[in-house]
Amino acid sequence: MDLVNEIKRLKKEKNAIILAHYYQRPEIQEIADDIGDSYYLSKVAKDCPEQTIVFCGVKFMAESAKILSPHKTVLLPAYDAGCPMADMAAAEDVVKLKEKHPNAKVVAYINSTTEVKAVTDVCCTSSNAVNIITNLDTDEIIFLPDKNLGSFIQEKIPNKKMILWNGFCITHKRLQPDEIIKAKESIENVITLAHPECEKEVRDLADFVGSTLEILNYATASDNKNFLILTEEGIMHQLKKQNPDKKFYTPRGGMMCVNMKKTHLKDVYEALLNNQHEITIDEDIRLKAYGSLMEMHRLAK
Ligand code: 13P
Ligand code: SF4
Repeated sequence: MDLVNEIKRLKKEKNAIILAHYYQRPEIQEIADDIGDSYYLSKVAKDCPEQTIVFCGVKFMAESAKILSPHKTVLLPAYDAGCPMADMAAAEDVVKLKEKHPNAKVVAYINSTTEVKAVTDVCCTSSNAVNIITNLDTDEIIFLPDKNLGSFIQEKIPNKKMILWNGFCITHKRLQPDEIIKAKESIENVITLAHPECEKEVRDLADFVGSTLEILNYATASDNKNFLILTEEGIMHQLKKQNPDKKFYTPRGGMMCVNMKKTHLKDVYEALLNNQHEITIDEDIRLKAYGSLMEMHRLAK
């Protein structure tokens, strides 16, 4: 069976849209109708006319789509594709921290559970976090779960007090400053691009820090020829595809998020064929989480 043709046929038959994050496998990116960073995909999922969304990414992305569009069917092809960082913050602990800082607003990275979003004032992604927190009408922020994105924002907005959660991305944490220094020394005229989920010591070695889409845009707009990429290796597919005349390097063996790699073509085919694995969310929690995600879309405009 030709999986790609079958996916195309079923997608048409079911009037579905396939969305893929840049960290997905190349063959998944190739069959997607739209590819993007977390913010862009959230916008597309919210505004698309299709009634069925096949979300090739991780659980919090598919859940965010469902929170914003409860009338749409949202399918997560790899049912167990989670995000360990999102699971590092529990809603009851967030509520306890809020009680200790009654004047603070809670800002949650979109990489968080629906329950956490439900006790949050506003969500953000790596591409809009600085903008959103700058525009927020408070000087005290509880930021969770990513301490690295949080410290990156704090560097950009020193006049606001950021109370940081102790979460992190296990994929980006693997990067070691010494291996990056060695990689930089071995590549001529290299520009280093990093994701803000990297630790500070790693970010400090980069020329530019941004979301996956911002990294792609930076490399595409630059006249430079060599780039060292400090984020999950799935992004290499679009970087190379859109810039065939440029060279992209990763430190040592690269960086892989096992959860982002759980989606295979067969999973997308089965998702469309059997309407699996459908995201369902309790309506009370969804309504509370809806407020924080809509606030993100309002403030990020
Ligand atoms: P962005 O694509 O928004 O940069 O997010 C990266 C990420 O870790 C998604 O899990
Ligand atoms: Fe979560 Fe990191 Fe994987 Fe993104 S790359 S899904 S933050 S573990």
